Amino acid sequence: MRHTLSHFAKLRESGEKIVMLTCYDASFARLADQAGVEILLVGDSLGMVVQGHDSTLPVTLEQMEYHVGMVARGSARALIVADMPFGSYQASNESAFSNAARLMVAGAQMVKLEGGAPMAGTVRFLVERGIPVCGHIGLVPQSVHALGGYRVQGKTEEAARRLLEDAHAIEKAGAAMLVLEAIPAALATQVTGALSIATIGIGAGKDCSGQVLVLHDMLDIYPGRKGRFVRNFMHGASSVADAIGRYVEAVKGGAFPAPEHGF
Ligand code: KIV
Repeated sequence: MRHTLSHFAKLRESGEKIVMLTCYDASFARLADQAGVEILLVGDSLGMVVQGHDSTLPVTLEQMEYHVGMVARGSARALIVADMPFGSYQASNESAFSNAARLMVAGAQMVKLEGGAPMAGTVRFLVERGIPVCGHIGLVPQSVHALGGYRVQGKTEEAARRLLEDAHAIEKAGAAMLVLEAIPAALATQVTGALSIATIGIGAGKDCSGQVLVLHDMLDIYPGRKGRFVRNFMHGASSVADAIGRYVEAVKGGAFPAPEHGF
């Protein structure tokens, strides 16, 4: 039986940290699932770490369906969250629903889409039609060109205020979870305290309800540039399974991220 949304609502309520990790195939899904990773994110980061692109923009819906199917077949307990790729949800609510439905049919239990208040209507449209949604704000990689690069977000008072408004809008629209990427730790603490849904941080300090890392970053097998918040869990591990187990332990025990892994 897979973890359900009510499981994660309870973890958030009790303060127990939620462990999310990206995953793109059945073998890694099995290892992560058995190590106790509670949410497997089939991220469009696969465009960079699997396909070798320099951004997530070229990833297609068909490719996401393919990887979601593999991760679903390899896992038994973890909740599977599928990223909606660039261009698959921005044009209209109706096309967002059709595309999200394809990811659910492929094996996801939740979809993730990037953006704040302007995406709230789409989040509501999906949630009202039975598709659980995870929001994603802060550094939103699909907007890398609009943002002018992979930069920390929410650093000015005005940007922080807008980010908090975005978080409220996405929660109000019905999202059950919210990824906070590359924002100052103090702002992530403030957002997490202001919401009643779980926040999942990546480069957002230690006070989020849970943490996520890109699998290929934490196993140190991605040759490209990594965020300062990434820790190499292969260091001192006896196997990949051991490294993933150490990640689970570190997140659950509050040992990751350490202060030097936040912003
Ligand atoms: O695509 C992805 O892996 C993500 C994480 C970085 C949160 O969205």
